Amino acid sequence: MASVASRATRASGLTKSLLPFRQPSSSRSLSTRATTYTLNTGAKIPALGFGTFQDPDSQEGTVSRALQRGMRLIDTARVYNVEEQVGRGIKKSGVPREQIFLGTKLWCNDYHPEDVDRALDDSLRDLDTPYVDLLLMHYPCTFKRGPERFPRDKEGRMIKGETGFLDTWRAMEKLAETGKVKAIGVSNFSKGEIEVLLNESSTVPAVHQMEVHPYLQQKAFNAWLKSKGIHVVQFSPLGNMNDFYRQTGWSKEIAHMTRVIDQPLLKEIAEKYGKSPAQVVLAWGINSGRSVIPKSVVDWQIDQNLEADFELAAEDMKRIATLDAKARFNDPSLDYEWRLYSDLEGIDGTVRGRTH
Ligand SMILES: NC(=O)c1ccc[n+]([C@@H]2O[C@H](COP(=O)([O-])OP(=O)(O)OC[C@H]3O[C@@H](n4cnc5c(N)ncnc54)[C@H](OP(=O)(O)O)[C@@H]3O)[C@@H](O)[C@H]2O)c1
Repeated sequence: MASVASRATRASGLTKSLLPFRQPSSSRSLSTRATTYTLNTGAKIPALGFGTFQDPDSQEGTVSRALQRGMRLIDTARVYNVEEQVGRGIKKSGVPREQIFLGTKLWCNDYHPEDVDRALDDSLRDLDTPYVDLLLMHYPCTFKRGPERFPRDKEGRMIKGETGFLDTWRAMEKLAETGKVKAIGVSNFSKGEIEVLLNESSTVPAVHQMEVHPYLQQKAFNAWLKSKGIHVVQFSPLGNMNDFYRQTGWSKEIAHMTRVIDQPLLKEIAEKYGKSPAQVVLAWGINSGRSVIPKSVVDWQIDQNLEADFELAAEDMKRIATLDAKARFNDPSLDYEWRLYSDLEGIDGTVRGRTH
């Protein structure tokens, strides 16, 4: 995994090539939109958000600055080990808590129904907040309950838990009644797994957070989720920009395909709008009715991402649709001992490898 310093160096290299598109600015431009969507709970969720996976030492400062510059959706997770930093960043920003949509995720070793309430309390304590706007089940697979996040046997294989995701979901439904959680949802589920929730419980997930970008568009699945009233939040919205996918044990050859900032068609469209390819990619997600949560610890990139909520012409949306390579970069199925995304696109070629 690249250090913050090496990321910053790489990023400043990128600055040069992006300068023709746009100069960095210090505050959010009034010319960009601030789109929000309404969840099936009636609550509003911003289209543009901020991811917090990796670079824990930078998160307090970047969360604070992102909020001050206009971000209003913060995505985190128990397993990222950054909740304390995120909580401090929110306080430091001076932005009132009620103006922020804050989401976190339960991790798989806390899926036993008797652990879910305590696990949420741990997150609330670290985030220093009485509630979260959204609590997601991070993956459908359950690991052995206990303090170990990645419990493995002697051969290094993940040890499964004794309960299933439906048991966890039912425990999450109870949390929604306490006021500590405003909405509940899932992440990394297959269509079949979501159907189980729809058929066997009384709560339709408010959100499905999943990998979506121009290289993995998941058109049919996205349309189905929409028809069920489930809002999609795109993770890794910039595709394989995250070095993690090129470095991790389970990354595939495909993770080395052209990065979105170098993709010729995206560059061409970006020039037309006076934007960068990264901004075009984020705008594509927003114009498709979804939220996007790019992560960055580099100020000029955060500024760029903040100005990614603009209208793309229908013809450009169609051209971006041609980039769908069904390239899924995030697939820890073999490591987690669970065939993830089983009925979805882009699961060929998953390789075994440890990430933790
Ligand atoms: N539910 C899940 O299982 C799951 C999985 C993955 C991610 N997520 C969430 O989604 C968030 C985003 O995903 P991600 O971090 O994998 O991918 P991403 O946001 O698509 O890409 C992040 C990478 O892009 C770079 N970057 C950001 N803005 C840029 C810009 N304007 N121009 C050029 N490069 C830019 C970042 O650089 P620097 O790092 O150098 O700033 C970083 O290397 C995560 O932080 C996390 O909150 C959820």
